[in-house]
Amino acid sequence: MADAKVEVRLNGPLRVYGEIEIVDADGKNYTVPEGQWVSFCRCGKSEKKPFCDTAHRDCGFEGESKAY
Ligand code: FES
Repeated sequence: MADAKVEVRLNGPLRVYGEIEIVDADGKNYTVPEGQWVSFCRCGKSEKKPFCDTAHRDCGFEGESKAY
């Protein structure tokens, strides 16, 4: 079983559950503790990229929840 799970949210972000570490180009990291989750923007409108700030709700973003 995987240590992390990625959920493709209908008309919304990619939500990641599990213990992961996110590192940016400057080496700054952000850790998501086990048992918590984080959402990554896929609409392109978030002002807190790569994280979702719920802007997808106001911009009319449409995205399937299927993973092909
Ligand atoms: S998916 Fe939520 S702000 Fe982009």
